[in-house]
Amino acid sequence: MTTVSVFGGTGFLGRRLVRRLAAEGATVRVAVRRSDRAQSALRAAGLEQVVVCGADVRDQASVAAAVAGADAVVNAVSAYVEKGDVTFESVHERGAGTVAREAAAAGVARLVLVSGIGADSESASPYIRARGRGELIVRQEFPGATIVRPGAMFGPGDALFGTLANIARVLPVVPLIGGGRRGGHRPHAR
Ligand SMILES: NC(=O)c1ccc[n+]([C@@H]2O[C@H](COP(=O)([O-])OP(=O)(O)OC[C@H]3O[C@@H](n4cnc5c(N)ncnc54)[C@H](OP(=O)(O)O)[C@@H]3O)[C@@H](O)[C@H]2O)c1
Repeated sequence: MTTVSVFGGTGFLGRRLVRRLAAEGATVRVAVRRSDRAQSALRAAGLEQVVVCGADVRDQASVAAAVAGADAVVNAVSAYVEKGDVTFESVHERGAGTVAREAAAAGVARLVLVSGIGADSESASPYIRARGRGELIVRQEFPGATIVRPGAMFGPGDALFGTLANIARVLPVVPLIGGGRRGGHRPHAR
């Protein structure tokens, strides 16, 4: 029996991953900050066998507890905006590093970091830069880590198209970028 700890297991990607892992027979541990909400969401989804573990990637002790005894760890934690003490640096650099370091220390065999498209440690964008730096730190702490860089993901409950659809439902008119034409309005394009 494989035990997989999924940081961010209640998120858009994480909850799909958790469902898939559980269906394939893995023992899944969901590591998120709001464990009470996670528990009820998992129960509603019929995933009672999934264990919830309160953890914050910015808190080393909670990360260590969440990865103890796991065969594999997935870090699918997001922070798209900085607010209060949630910063790109604390989540995507230090937090990703903490997960990788604690996973290595616990003898975890596989680590997957879900990063983002275009991650670049030299970027002028604080978010893209933090993702790039986070990848470098993770590679240092856990050399065999698998790093994936998804582009925008969409489906029921997504943040991008779902939000646009909700806006379109309530607005009397909807502005369309580039006139709504494929490829946008490019008068000089050939
Ligand atoms: N969705 C996309 O289109 C897209 C595109 C490219 C890359 N990605 C990347 O894919 C990954 C997953 O994205 P997503 O859209 O599925 O995220 P999401 O829906 O926003 O979910 C984020 C998850 O992370 C948990 N979380 C947030 N901060 C945490 C912290 N400090 N410690 C522990 N858990 C924390 C949240 O639960 P709590 O709030 O309860 O902690 C939640 O389970 C992210 O790395 C994201 O950047 C996503």
